[in-house]
Amino acid sequence: MKESPNPRHYLTVSDLASDEILFLISRALKLKNRYKSGQPYRPAIGKIIGLLFEKPSTRTRISFETAMLQLGGNVTFLSSRDLQLRRGEPLKDTARVLSRYLDCLVVRTFGQEVVDELSRWSGIPVINGLTDQHHPCQVLSDIMTVMEHKHEDMKALKVAWVGDGNNVAHSWIQAAGRLGFALALACPEGYEPDKEILNRAQAESAAPITLTTDPKEAVESADVINADVWASMGQEEEASKRRKIFAPYQINDALLAKAKTDAIVLHCLPAHREEEISEEVLEGPHSVVWDQAENKMHLHKAVLEWAMEL
Ligand code: CP
Ligand code: NVA
Repeated sequence: MKESPNPRHYLTVSDLASDEILFLISRALKLKNRYKSGQPYRPAIGKIIGLLFEKPSTRTRISFETAMLQLGGNVTFLSSRDLQLRRGEPLKDTARVLSRYLDCLVVRTFGQEVVDELSRWSGIPVINGLTDQHHPCQVLSDIMTVMEHKHEDMKALKVAWVGDGNNVAHSWIQAAGRLGFALALACPEGYEPDKEILNRAQAESAAPITLTTDPKEAVESADVINADVWASMGQEEEASKRRKIFAPYQINDALLAKAKTDAIVLHCLPAHREEEISEEVLEGPHSVVWDQAENKMHLHKAVLEWAMEL
């Protein structure tokens, strides 16, 4: 409703400086405390965000919706199936029209070029709620969860990523580059993360960001282990081929035994039990996945507050 010549978009973790990342996480922790103490906080009264989603979502959709409603604002969900976008209306026209109605737009889509194009033409902040290449909000709430369960100095921790070099992995790599913590990735050959994203983060970070095909090597002495699905949304047809290739990359008790004894296990969810993670590990004492899912809501409040300059 109030367009700006320079809206605060958030499309990849690299859009933020390290102090902005740390600010958003510490703000989310404060907002979480406030929420838990039952104190209302409604800086978004009169504001409306749109959620334009081209892929399914449980957590990201509902946590953005509840975040905005708790901040006192309103939400409208825009299924791409129902918009004129489906009939070929250009993204640049959609972005300019939505900017006249809304205060912020959260987008979940396939190509990163879609959020790039929307943001180019939008007079309101555009926030990436997942693309094929990045999941930048997810990784901020993941790091918030690590800070709560370990400690606030990420530089003192070793984080492992085991599985596909996918969108969530890319956002972890960019976060490691910005914040300078050790990140060890184990991905099967042919399923590595994007080379340019990896090289750039490696050049930026004082701590090692390593890539191997050996899951044991990546998990060795890790404080944090990350799992994600083997076939992401849009890759359903490859699922059975991937199940065979990724079988040695399952996070199970045997692999977990290589990590520190107090290691925590993250999974952005939805999880496929007995594929990328065993039932024992997902439901076991090292798993922090429910806190991780909850934190998406608190982190999204901080992102909305920041983006709309509330
Ligand atoms: N973690 C996550 O983004 O979950 P959804 O796909 O349910 O939004
Ligand atoms: N890599 C997964 C993340 C889901 C939240 C996907 O894109 O489907």
